[in-house]
Amino acid sequence: MKVGVVGAGLVGATAAYAMTLRGSCAEIVLSDLDLRRAEAEAQDIAHASPVSHGTRVSAGPLEELAGSRVVIVAAGANQQPGESRLDLLQKNAGIFRELIPQVAASAPGAVLLIATNPVDVLTGLSTRLAPEQPVMGSGTVLDSARFRHLVAQHAGVDATHVHGYVLGEHGDSEVIAWSTATVAGLPVADFMAARGLDWTPEIRAAIESGTRDAAAAIIGGKRATYYGIGAALARITERVLGDRRAVLTVSAPTPQFGVSLSLPRVVGAGGVLATVMPRLTPDEETALEASAAVLREAAGQLEG
Ligand code: LAC
Repeated sequence: MKVGVVGAGLVGATAAYAMTLRGSCAEIVLSDLDLRRAEAEAQDIAHASPVSHGTRVSAGPLEELAGSRVVIVAAGANQQPGESRLDLLQKNAGIFRELIPQVAASAPGAVLLIATNPVDVLTGLSTRLAPEQPVMGSGTVLDSARFRHLVAQHAGVDATHVHGYVLGEHGDSEVIAWSTATVAGLPVADFMAARGLDWTPEIRAAIESGTRDAAAAIIGGKRATYYGIGAALARITERVLGDRRAVLTVSAPTPQFGVSLSLPRVVGAGGVLATVMPRLTPDEETALEASAAVLREAAGQLEG
C-alpha cells in the first residue's frame, strides 16, 4: 500500500523514515514545495530501504500522491522556543486553506492524517476543506506515549505495558487522565503500592509536567521534536492500513464538545471508526471541558 507525506521537513521526513524502518507500507511518496529538499530526503531514506523492508521511497509533486491510502500532512511552520502551538494557527491555517483541497484532489479517498500544529484546530479545518474523505489528527497520541513512558520509568516496567490517555488539546490545556492509567491491569497507585515503590503527589506532578512540557524542553535543547511524533504517525498509519481497530487518542471533530480534540478512538481502514468516552473523575471532566473551550476559542478565530 502507498502512503503520501506532504511536508518534507523534520516531522514529515522522520515519519517517512520511521515507516521505512518499520515496514509500515510498500511505497512512500514525499512531497514539498521545496521539491529539491523532498527529493534529497527521499533519496537518503531510500538508502535505508535495502537494509530494512524494501519500501519504495520517492519524491514528487502533489499529483504523485495518487493512489495513497493515507496522506500524512506535516507541512507548515513549527514551534520556535517560547512559542505555543496555538501561536502557529493563522500562518498554518493559511497554508492549509490552499493545500488541503489540492491534497484531497490528488489523493481522493485517502485518509488524511494531520500532524501540523495546532493539530486539533487544523484537523477541524481540514475536515471542512476535504469533506469527502476521512480526516484525523495525530492529536495526543504522542502525549499519551510521553505519559506512558514516564509512568513506566517510575514503575520499572516496559512502556508498552503501561496504558493511559492524555485527552483534549495537543497543547498546554491537555488533560493527563490518571483515571485511565493502569500498569499490569492495576490503577497506577495500586501498582506502585504492590511493588513497594514511592508514589507521592510530587511524583505525580513531575510526571504531569514532564508530559505536558516535553515539547518545550526538547525544542529548547534542539529546536524541534520529530522522533516521537514521527513514530506516532507511523503507528497511526499502520493501524489504518491494517484496519487494526487500535484504540488511539487521535484528534477528530467531536460534536459533544463542538470542536476537534483527542479522545480514545477506534482507528481502522476508514479512519476513526468509533469514539470511546472514558469514565473520568469530576476534576478530569472539568479540565477536559476547559481544554475544549480553549480549542473552541482558537477555532473561532478562523471563522470568516
Ligand atoms: C510535539 C509536537 C509534535 O508535541 O507538537 O512534540
